[in-house]
Amino acid sequence: MLSAASRNVLRSVTTPLQQTRSLRPQYFNTPFRRHYAIPTTEQPRLRLGSIAPNFQAKTTHGDIDFHDFIGENWAILFSHPADFTPVCTTELGAFAKMKDEFERRGVKMIGLSANDLGSHDRWIRDINEISKTNLQFPIIADADRKIAYLYDMLDAQDLTNIDQKGIAFTIRAVFIIDPSKKIRLTMLYPASVGRNTSEVLRVIDSLQTGDKKGVTTPINWQVGEDVIVPPTVSTEDAKKKFKDVREVKPYLRFTNVGK
Ligand code: BEZ
Repeated sequence: MLSAASRNVLRSVTTPLQQTRSLRPQYFNTPFRRHYAIPTTEQPRLRLGSIAPNFQAKTTHGDIDFHDFIGENWAILFSHPADFTPVCTTELGAFAKMKDEFERRGVKMIGLSANDLGSHDRWIRDINEISKTNLQFPIIADADRKIAYLYDMLDAQDLTNIDQKGIAFTIRAVFIIDPSKKIRLTMLYPASVGRNTSEVLRVIDSLQTGDKKGVTTPINWQVGEDVIVPPTVSTEDAKKKFKDVREVKPYLRFTNVGK
């Protein structure tokens, strides 16, 4: 982490609002920031439903155009602040093992980490050894953190997001993007909290079931369990569409759409 003195210097330069809206080039010429590309463009506001910004990048599987990479599929983009970080190492090992689960759902996996390709290749060897797996999806080399910036994956704590060892906090995001390139769900994690692969699959199941069947899903829902008839559908129409509808309250109606 930066020292308190460094943080005070940074705080005197910009307010939190300015930090997100006006990233002035001269600011990035400070020693804290000089190893990284200077973003000169306005950071897009990414909301659920926004089109995932397109970018070109070098990955462990070659150069990509992100939208071309997604193609007609769903995609999951998960990001990491640096290679050889312990929590991230366990996460990538676990994601690698879930390859078949993501494929079954038509979801292409892609990671991002703020280091170069040579480092990624060495890290993947470690991940495979530690988790006894064979990581097969590409990892983007985002050493200058341009894509992390584009996707607003940086921590609000300070503008540099770089600790004494050069690790950029936090860049630990999950973006789930649909075939029309819309961002459908995001998760942001601090460095200390490992992600949960089951939850990632669960939310993909929910999104895809919702799209296919026109339903929403309740707390802790798992495939096959009862789903909720959305408020936009009348009970009469729901009964025509789903046959069995269980009305708990006029605004809370359950049905089952199978697996
Ligand atoms: C990790 O354990 O993955 C981690 C450590 C420090 C910063 C960010 C991530």
